[in-house]
Amino acid sequence: MLPSRADFPADFLFGAATSAYQIEGHAYGGAGRTHWDDFAATPGNVVRGENGARACDHYHRFEEDLDLAAGMGLDAYRFSTSWARVMPEGRGAVNARGLDFYDRLVDACLKRNLKPFVTLYHWELPSALADLGGWRNRDIADWFADFATTVMGRIGDRVHAVATINEPWCVAWLSHFLGLHAPGVRDIRAAARAMHHVPLAHGKAVQAMRAAGITNIGIVTNHEYVEPVDDTPEAHAAARLYDAIYNRWFLGGMRRGQYPEEVLEGLGPHLPRGWELDMETVTQPVDWLGINYYTRKLIGPGPSGLWGDLAEHAGDLPQTTMGWEIYPEGLHHFLVRNHAEYGGGLPIHVTENGMSENDVVVNGEVEDAARLAYIARHLAAVARAIAEGVPVKGYFIWSLLDNFEWALGYDKRFGLVHVDFETLERTPKASYHALARALARQ
Ligand code: NOJ
Repeated sequence: MLPSRADFPADFLFGAATSAYQIEGHAYGGAGRTHWDDFAATPGNVVRGENGARACDHYHRFEEDLDLAAGMGLDAYRFSTSWARVMPEGRGAVNARGLDFYDRLVDACLKRNLKPFVTLYHWELPSALADLGGWRNRDIADWFADFATTVMGRIGDRVHAVATINEPWCVAWLSHFLGLHAPGVRDIRAAARAMHHVPLAHGKAVQAMRAAGITNIGIVTNHEYVEPVDDTPEAHAAARLYDAIYNRWFLGGMRRGQYPEEVLEGLGPHLPRGWELDMETVTQPVDWLGINYYTRKLIGPGPSGLWGDLAEHAGDLPQTTMGWEIYPEGLHHFLVRNHAEYGGGLPIHVTENGMSENDVVVNGEVEDAARLAYIARHLAAVARAIAEGVPVKGYFIWSLLDNFEWALGYDKRFGLVHVDFETLERTPKASYHALARALARQ
């Protein structure tokens, strides 16, 4: 059963999340080209070669979309700022229309009593910076800090909270070791550099924003519950390494100044020289932690036998259309674990959780009972963690709208609101209506 407001502390925030490239329509408003446009233009990288040029056209329809968020009874809205929309070349000249857009978006949230949670970087790197090596180039830490203060200089007086980077693992490992996201690189040296430059950029941005008087700064990490595929020592070792790369590298670095030993064994020789000297910058204090959680993975050794080659195996739990197993206990696990190991008492927000389904509109209605059950079970896991003393302060559903699911294009539907990508018509799904009832204030 879906919990209601009454099952959570009075100040608990219910929200929905989106990201710029996935919904805005990157072709509009004078934004510069991004490495996702470049990546999508190469056949084979993105399903059907789709991209974010039009997406949900949120750039023109944000008032309607925020009406939908507010109409559900949400307290908060998490969105991201597109670097190339604000600075088309990644550095230097600012696109006034880009900053104006985020300014209007923030005011439109406030007008509807939605607390704005902004994420500065959610993956669409300006192509001009990608051409200079992107996350492989150490200078990105300074470029990012400039971008952060430029954005926050405009909207920082009104946003409720700011996160630097969404899902560092995806920015670094998925994109530079596994090569499944832009820029599609498969190279351990590139991966090692990105694995360090992402935390460094985070740290420099935090420093720069603090110096500019910005408060309530956080970081959003993603987590998967990892188990060995079988009982062999090789599978156990593989699962441990996967857990260390995925779940412990970034928080270990940013919260404790220590990258996990088992990852350093493989990456150490490829890390940029002198990386240890950066750890003071990497560990800048933050004010909150964000956790994105979706699934469990069964892991074993990969076929090549090379360091870092790890294989994912299908499990027997029910799956979403992403092929992701549904495992709410994993969310409870990370709330407890991240609080104990990296939290130091900081508030934690579940900044993303949700599921993809094959939702279709029939007579103006969308039945998505499985999504509602998914949300209900994960909310119950959150409530359990709170009862055990974990300071969880908010829960954001991914996503408000069906949108561009990166390399998988438009047919993985995560929204509470269905989007017809021909007409761009929005139709709230059954889960939207059920949540609106659960969130209504008595
Ligand atoms: C995590 C990412 O932050 C978001 O961009 C993505 O669409 C969802 N997970 C679903 O895969």
